Amino acid sequence: MEEIRIFSPATIANISCGFDVLGLALDGVGDEMVVRKTSEPGVKITKITGQDLPTDAHLNVAGVAAMALLQAHTYQGGFEMEIHKKIKAGSGIGSSAASAAGAVWAVNRLLGIPFTTLELVAFAMEGERLASGVAHADNVAPALFGGFSLVRSYDPLDIVNISAPPALVATVIHPQIEIKTSDSRKILKTKISLEDGIKQWGNVGGLVAGLYTQDYGLIGRSLVDHIVEPIRSILIPGFDEVKSKSLDAGALGCGISGSGPSIFGLSKGMDTAKAVAISMKEVYQKIGIPYDIHISKINSDGIKILN
Ligand code: HSE
Repeated sequence: MEEIRIFSPATIANISCGFDVLGLALDGVGDEMVVRKTSEPGVKITKITGQDLPTDAHLNVAGVAAMALLQAHTYQGGFEMEIHKKIKAGSGIGSSAASAAGAVWAVNRLLGIPFTTLELVAFAMEGERLASGVAHADNVAPALFGGFSLVRSYDPLDIVNISAPPALVATVIHPQIEIKTSDSRKILKTKISLEDGIKQWGNVGGLVAGLYTQDYGLIGRSLVDHIVEPIRSILIPGFDEVKSKSLDAGALGCGISGSGPSIFGLSKGMDTAKAVAISMKEVYQKIGIPYDIHISKINSDGIKILN
């Protein structure tokens, strides 16, 4: 195989209680990439559509992630990439992760799959380091594995993949303001109280147990963030109202998607997810902020080949 065209999904990181350790992959929302082998060594980005991003591979998350992979391999040739961005940068649904994960997944395929998916996560994390200053894995892991990912440990990297309960549907609204992950990390406290820690790890355990046992009530009760959301939500106009209206419309839970400004709700069933979308839209129509909205099942496959 000399060339591959792929879909790389958008992702929701943190999922309320799991800052930097939990994420899920979305269906139908994501970037497309075309990656081909070249005889010339190195990584070249030949085209980017949809967003104004650097084509210099050293300054682009896809380029940096692919180069991290190539450094660990003996292949003498190179790769060129076209990136067709459908996910807006700074939207909070894993724009940089989709590019970084897509790049390493495609390159790995073209090289005959020499690396495991866990190894690909580590390469893709180098793209995240470029994007936000921190090599977090909670977007790239679900993009690569599909479903839900729990980063049990960063050192050594240990990722637990969890299938999504079948009726779970995500609603994500993106108010059209941009929040850089690096900026929304700077405002966080670096220390937490034991009291908050106790509440938070109770919820992480509850969410994971709820996913395994398909206990939608337990999932809903666990979608609470005592640590990050109270600080970051200040950056998102209308957040409190979107959250309370989404819960009124039947969402199991609602929170900030990744570092925001997107807000996600998780619901049991498509009808509730649609009702949540209507409530979310009403808030931004009233405030007068344009938005994008996505209703998506959980993507169980991660990155896919397009024909
Ligand atoms: N865990 C990261 C953060 C995700 O919240 O900063 C960024 O998408």
